[in-house]
Amino acid sequence: MKIIMLGAPGAGKGTQAKQIADKFSIPHISTGDIFRANIKEGTELGKKAKGYMDAGELVPDELVCDLVVDRIQKEDCANGFILDGFPRTIPQAEALTEALNAIGQKMDYAIDIEVDDAQIVERMGGRRACLGCGATYHIINIPPKKEGICDRCGSEIILRDDDKPETVQNRLNVYHEQTQPLIDYYKNEGILSSVDGTQPMDKVFADIIGIVG
Ligand code: AP5
Ligand code: MG
Repeated sequence: MKIIMLGAPGAGKGTQAKQIADKFSIPHISTGDIFRANIKEGTELGKKAKGYMDAGELVPDELVCDLVVDRIQKEDCANGFILDGFPRTIPQAEALTEALNAIGQKMDYAIDIEVDDAQIVERMGGRRACLGCGATYHIINIPPKKEGICDRCGSEIILRDDDKPETVQNRLNVYHEQTQPLIDYYKNEGILSSVDGTQPMDKVFADIIGIVG
């Protein structure tokens, strides 16, 4: 079970990926979460990534590809994994295809969560993210049980630096230019499915389960 979650920033990739990973007991690999953890720990990678992320730009491919290729070869990925936020450019998709080819494997599903730009902008302002476990909330749609505290791990939940309205617009522009072409890439590979991401979360989840079984 090797799944890619596609979709604009804020489409619900992380929300859905977490649930799918729990259901199938496979690792949830979010490049955004990996970078945020590195920024929090002050690592070299975090220092390199931070400027790009705060501006809503993509981190250069060379900082991302090796990291993911190494991660998916870890033992816990033997039964599958779910990629959230990777690939995000055609060169990243090619690097992934090549790395899997080299070990006689391929991705099984690419699921595109469709949400229009206007709804994305509205969602992002209300989002709160946990720096501990990566869980996401929305102050109105999906509030935590206790204000400001993650239900799953008890850490503080915060407004991400890149969720400011002007940065969100740039992230959307970058998405349309650099990431949306992946929809055709995976259509050509014959593994693309789309779900309507404007539905309630549990309905989106049910649609995804309908695709991946
Ligand atoms: P990343 O962390 O991947 O951010 P993103 O793609 O911009 O996506 P988000 O995490 O913002 O949204 P999501 O789709 O996960 O939505 P969520 O589930 O949270 O990347 C951040 C940055 O890191 C990038 O900009 C880039 O700089 C860098 N980066 C990462 N990967 C990279 C790569 N491969 N290459 C280069 N650079 C990379 O949901 C959003 C909100 O909506 C939440 O509040 C949620 O509660 C709510 N919500 C979810 N579903 C629903 C629903 N059905 N109805 C109502 N509300 C909902
Ligand atoms: Mg996310």
